[in-house]
Amino acid sequence: MRPSARTVFLTAVCLACALGTVAPQTVAQPVTTPASSADLRAAYATPQDIAEGKKVAAASCAQCHGMDGASTADGVPHIAGQRAPYLHLESLVYKNGGRGTTPMSNAVKFLSDDALMKVSAYYGSLDPVPPVSTRAAPAGKSAPAKLDPVSAGKAAAAGCSGCHGETGISKMAGMPSLVGLDPKYFVAAMNAYKNGQRKNEVMKTLAAGLGETDLNNLALFYALQKAAPAQTPSPGDKAAGKAAAAGCAGCHGDAGVSTNPATPSIAGQDAEYFSEAMKAYKAGSRADPAMQGAVADLDDKKIRDMAAHYAAQAPQMPKVRKPLTVAEWVERCDRCHGTNGNSTDPRSPALAGQRADYLERVMRAYQKETRKSAAMATMSHVLTEAEIEGIAAYYSRQRPRSVVYLILPAAK
Ligand code: HEC
Ligand code: HEC
Ligand code: HEC
Ligand code: HEC
Repeated sequence: MRPSARTVFLTAVCLACALGTVAPQTVAQPVTTPASSADLRAAYATPQDIAEGKKVAAASCAQCHGMDGASTADGVPHIAGQRAPYLHLESLVYKNGGRGTTPMSNAVKFLSDDALMKVSAYYGSLDPVPPVSTRAAPAGKSAPAKLDPVSAGKAAAAGCSGCHGETGISKMAGMPSLVGLDPKYFVAAMNAYKNGQRKNEVMKTLAAGLGETDLNNLALFYALQKAAPAQTPSPGDKAAGKAAAAGCAGCHGDAGVSTNPATPSIAGQDAEYFSEAMKAYKAGSRADPAMQGAVADLDDKKIRDMAAHYAAQAPQMPKVRKPLTVAEWVERCDRCHGTNGNSTDPRSPALAGQRADYLERVMRAYQKETRKSAAMATMSHVLTEAEIEGIAAYYSRQRPRSVVYLILPAAK
């Protein structure tokens, strides 16, 4: 007998499966959110429903998903052992066009809600597909381990430290400090050297060998270093420089810490580099419309005094998010998707053992909002491409477990 709808609670029990383990392992917490009966119908499916669902699968789904729910093609997810109520809900979303027009939406367009419930129950009842790592690895190809962006930036910065200091704090007069620079300005400056807009032969040669990802990693590395003023001399009259710099605050911030990512912070900058830059703007050899007006009436003494003033100001770390490690992300994702992606909530998909290419595609779809979900939107917006790849690789390697929902009698 089916319990009445409104007071139903489900308990999920994960069973070790598919990989030969016999003993059932209970790794689940009870699902304590009451759900509407329509949402959970596939969890109440009878063996007869499942048998009927198998026929629907043979006629309408097997050509792409196989009878075993194990995908063999890029872009097609494994659905074996996926939570049946989730499969049902997603099938309805496809049917209503909510995930766009795809081969998948055409496949379910003409099927009744009842047929979709049953076929979902069928695929949900199957053993999940073992993760990639337990299958034969493709011969001879093992992808090199990828560094996270900050570590990659640090590695690339080794070649810059001789001139710019180990952590971007200049120790050599004439060399700019790189701490406290917004990544956006940093990347723009490097590209300006690359395309010749900013003229410096050394930097041009160095920048030429760096791609967009390298530049982003380098910029991130320097932005995350503890900021301190350049350790170089700054001759000049600070007090006079402060008075002369009143007109610069509007763009560069009160104490030389800019709030506009396209305008460089100049607090703590090496004084000699500062002066050379000002003279270059004045001479027109470094062209910039914003700076052109600012330097027009300045003589060498004023420039030197301002350089001393700004060199004495405290640089700040720009506001950038330090990327989380995959482990830190997984901790957050597992709150809804279950331990190592083995969801026990019937409406949350399991991620464990899913194809990495599919997981990546879906996260990008949430990001672009071509697939909409209130639960997923906030998290996916901040993910970087490197994080998406790392998270997808992690979940695709986790061992998937099937789950059996026990229906408890309704509380009186
Ligand atoms: C022509 C190939 C094709 C057929 C037939 C097909 N599917 Fe799919 N299915 C796909 C593809 C491709 C995707 C991934 C689409 C995307 O990225 O949104 C998918 C995705 C899904 C998903 C989403 C899984 C998830 O993890 O979110 C479900 C559920 C699903 N299919 C169920 C079915 C069912 C049930 C049938 C039969 C009624 C079926 N599919 C028939 C190709 C197919
Ligand atoms: C041989 C010394 C040298 C090396 C090595 C070097 N740089 Fe430079 N860098 C300079 C000099 C000199 C300037 C100032 C050039 C100018 O006047 O435009 C500069 C300017 C810059 C600027 C612009 C700073 C600003 O405030 O606008 C950035 C960014 C930069 N370098 C990044 C790097 C990175 C990243 C590396 C390593 C890949 C590197 N540099 C390696 C000498 C060097
Ligand atoms: C209208 C806005 C504006 C004003 C006012 C302004 N700046 Fe700038 N400044 C900029 C921008 C934008 C850049 C970056 C230009 C580039 O990429 O070459 C810059 C660059 C600089 C640089 C080079 C920094 C580096 O890291 O290479 C120095 C030094 C500088 N400004 C000092 C000053 C001083 C001193 C004043 C006041 C006398 C001043 N600026 C006034 C917008 C302004
Ligand atoms: C607040 C709960 C919650 C959190 C936290 C959460 N998710 Fe989800 N996730 C969901 C729900 C609910 C769905 C189903 C949404 C839908 O219908 O599109 C989902 C769907 C997904 C899917 C689609 C799976 C498929 O088979 O199509 C992926 C991939 C995913 N989440 C990854 C993640 C990752 C990675 C994180 C951590 C960065 C995360 N989720 C965090 C609730 C959550």
